[in-house]
Amino acid sequence: MGGEAKVTMIPKSFDEETATAAASVNIWKYVFGFTDAAVVKCAVDLGIPRVIRSNGGDSIRLSQLSSALGCGQDQSAALRRIMRFLAQRGFFTYASRDPVDPEYSMTPLSRLLLEDDPHSMARFILLEAHPTMLGPWQNLARHVLDGTPPFVVANGEDVWLRATGDREFGRLVDDAMACDARIVVPAIAHGCPNLFQGIGSVVDVGGGNGITMSMIVKAFPPVKGINFDLPHVVADAPSWEGVEHVGGDMFKEVPKADAAFLMWVLHDWSDDDCIHILRKCKDAIPRDGGGKVVIVEGVMEEEGEEAQDELSGVRLSLDMVMMAHTKAGRERTRKEWESVITQAGFSRIHITAIAAVQSVIEVFP
Ligand SMILES: C[S@@+](CC[C@H](N)C(=O)[O-])C[C@H]1O[C@@H](n2cnc3c(N)ncnc32)[C@H](O)[C@@H]1O
Repeated sequence: MGGEAKVTMIPKSFDEETATAAASVNIWKYVFGFTDAAVVKCAVDLGIPRVIRSNGGDSIRLSQLSSALGCGQDQSAALRRIMRFLAQRGFFTYASRDPVDPEYSMTPLSRLLLEDDPHSMARFILLEAHPTMLGPWQNLARHVLDGTPPFVVANGEDVWLRATGDREFGRLVDDAMACDARIVVPAIAHGCPNLFQGIGSVVDVGGGNGITMSMIVKAFPPVKGINFDLPHVVADAPSWEGVEHVGGDMFKEVPKADAAFLMWVLHDWSDDDCIHILRKCKDAIPRDGGGKVVIVEGVMEEEGEEAQDELSGVRLSLDMVMMAHTKAGRERTRKEWESVITQAGFSRIHITAIAAVQSVIEVFP
């Protein structure tokens, strides 16, 4: 006869019990982590910050917001719950806590959801929450086991082919990148004011719609700019003063200039591809000295040495985004950047931290 298994309870120490209790609370952040991105996307989809702004000020009553958005009858209760969530997360404050008709005020965080704010992140939020970008996350575990690219499994092609065939999605990618450029270029100009001293022309390799180059030529006169990207990307790009658009393939040839500039391009690619692209950039700059390549990318801390600040966390998240959305892209540590750059034939590297996710990595032949 099988006797009942005897379970011995080992008493937990006070410290262990406290840690377990804290973990039981902490874990909910991961159970419901997706709700933050989903509800913020909802606010952008609805245009809530835009409606508040066009209400003539910085605040709005629930009833006004509901009627401006065209909420159906009885739907202001759903809107009120959305606003309550966003207020708790710091996107709005209560100008009035009227129990029937509360009034909400904008905050610095909700201003970043306005499409026309100079620091808007609205299109970046829409990109990352787009179904095309969400699907690959379901395939991360499989990628870890057998290396299958998550984006290709979810969408049948890689992200750049998708952006070519589906131009609405492609424009969203370009607009999202432009959100980042509007923040990073002023940080580059502030942190590296002499970056292009003595440089007459710069080619932005994988420059998207050209906004980065348009800001560089303004921030670093008298630099002349070339915005270089895939032909369909530059065909869609607006014209910018002082910037010439050139379409092509950076794996084949990069247009000649005194300096080549690569922002958030190399992190999309494997080490071998990065070395290939960097060699093409080296071929594009003057052989007789004076030229350089400027790489604007995140520099991760060594494993286990990550700082506990927000931007370190963003770089780690970005590394996961690269795993989900590219075939072999990744964020890199200083040592990993040095390895790729020296293998591409450059002899000197200078890294400057700036007030952004990225650092400025200057590399010299
Ligand atoms: C992540 S985006 C970065 C855009 C821009 N540098 C920025 O930071 O705002 C990568 C860019 O690389 C471009 N790209 C991809 N493959 C390319 C190729 N073979 N030749 C040139 N550009 C390419 C994409 O079209 C896209 O604009």
